[in-house]
Amino acid sequence: MPHSSNNPLRDPQDRRLPQIAGPCVLVIFGVTGDLSRKKLMPAVYDLANRGMLPPGFGLVGFARRDWQDQDFAKVVHDAVKENSRTPFREEVWEQLLEGIRFVPGTFDSDESFDKLKDTICELDQARGTGGNHAFYLSIPPSSFEVVVSQLKKHGLTEEEQGGWNRVVIEKPFGHDLESAKELNAVVSSLFEPQEVFRIDHYLGKETVQNMLALRFANQMFEPLWNNHYVSHVQITMAEDIGIGGRAGYYDGIGAARDVIQNHLLQLLALTAMEEPTSFEASQLRAEKQKVLAAAHVPGDLSQTTARGQYCAGWQGAQQVKGYLEEDGVDAGSSTETFAAIRVDIDNRRWAGVPFYLRAAKRMPRRVTEVALSFKRAPHLPFTATDTEELGTNALVMRIQPDEGVTLRFGAKVPGTQMEIREVSMDFAYGGSFTESSPEAYERLILDVMLGDAPLFPQQEEVELSWSILDPVLEHWAAQPDQPEPYESGTWGPQNAVDMLARDGFAWRRP
Ligand SMILES: NC(=O)c1ccc[n+]([C@@H]2O[C@H](COP(=O)([O-])OP(=O)(O)OC[C@H]3O[C@@H](n4cnc5c(N)ncnc54)[C@H](OP(=O)(O)O)[C@@H]3O)[C@@H](O)[C@H]2O)c1
Repeated sequence: MPHSSNNPLRDPQDRRLPQIAGPCVLVIFGVTGDLSRKKLMPAVYDLANRGMLPPGFGLVGFARRDWQDQDFAKVVHDAVKENSRTPFREEVWEQLLEGIRFVPGTFDSDESFDKLKDTICELDQARGTGGNHAFYLSIPPSSFEVVVSQLKKHGLTEEEQGGWNRVVIEKPFGHDLESAKELNAVVSSLFEPQEVFRIDHYLGKETVQNMLALRFANQMFEPLWNNHYVSHVQITMAEDIGIGGRAGYYDGIGAARDVIQNHLLQLLALTAMEEPTSFEASQLRAEKQKVLAAAHVPGDLSQTTARGQYCAGWQGAQQVKGYLEEDGVDAGSSTETFAAIRVDIDNRRWAGVPFYLRAAKRMPRRVTEVALSFKRAPHLPFTATDTEELGTNALVMRIQPDEGVTLRFGAKVPGTQMEIREVSMDFAYGGSFTESSPEAYERLILDVMLGDAPLFPQQEEVELSWSILDPVLEHWAAQPDQPEPYESGTWGPQNAVDMLARDGFAWRRP
């Protein structure tokens, strides 16, 4: 791989460079899928292009297609050209190509797994991988068991020559607490906990890691980061799209299982946790676990949760259909496309501060953010009209898009009157840094190869998150009514507005 100093994309200041992983083979199951095409293969190329792949790197695709190595290489090539972040360079591609192999077959075929083993052995020899193998399961969770059992049966989980074997699994990690435990029982029967890398790609985002920098590299926020100053926190993941062609995955799953259980509860944990003694995996996970263990959805769940389902409407200039009219959705489906929950955290720092989590499709815009709203100043030495346009102070961490941080506060409007209006101070990644942010999958795939675990949630976190969400899902499942409809292109159903109004707050409209 071109990781020499003549690589123009290599950043000489990149501190991760000394950490380039040893040579290894990355096996991707499910290479014909959406995730692989849009994210995984482009991320592998981008890593190569940045000089961050080990010299002896091999990529094996496994799928039920009658392809030769060169057919798969063409698929990788097209995916890279279409979706990679960095420019296409022929010499990088040529070097990557040397290590690309394909194994045709179904997951239950012993013959195919024998072929996979032979292919990996050949690559071990040809690329000098030292027996280091990562198995990426970019496949439906229902196939995890058969694949990991096949790996075991064909001796692919045995470590040789001092090499390592790691398995990478994608969310969803189950659909409730019980199924998450069952899934884990399968994976952990064959892999040690330190060999299992659960991907929550939000944790690979630069902006999410910046939450740690903002909180723990600065002195000025920490004194305010508690129930003395914060009135409430809103964590939003709004998408402007509908379910597209993903009814098969989404229907019956819904917004809460799809993103609150993983991404949003991870954002809550990073916002609310105590400072870890280091960013070593066990320390970071311990703090996240503590705060998740103290979190729950309080009281009467019909008052502290809200759900909705999009109906037809306008998305910008485009007329769009409702959820129930989408191809592949059950006519009477009660799957929620808008989910909101209130989470209380029972500890000294956060007692009395509600965290509101909201995830939804067909919103007016795409935005993910964490917003801390502060209490009002206890006394305002102005007349009421002076402060008519003064909101409450807020610190907003913008995860995507427009990555950055905004601080909102009151300032005097120029003029002879003492009129106060809300203004904002902005940090934008694009304005402060010249280098573009790597994709989350670049970081995470590199970390798998490095065996660097802090950005991967552990099973305990997964189970704690389901423990928070399961009562809500059971409550919703027991309701005779459908989720409340909301028009596409609006900020959601009335029951969500009421939910916050009861607590004296309003949802942000980012
Ligand atoms: N797409 C995303 O953005 C995204 C985001 C987060 C997590 N994930 C998770 O990542 C995983 C992959 O997602 P995806 O969107 O890429 O799914 P997908 O488009 O449905 O692709 C699934 C892949 O698995 C293969 N597959 C399924 N059943 C198989 C079987 N019985 N034998 C052999 N191959 C089989 C498919 O092969 P065929 O082409 O032969 O059917 C395809 O390559 C899932 O666990 C998903 O929940 C996806």
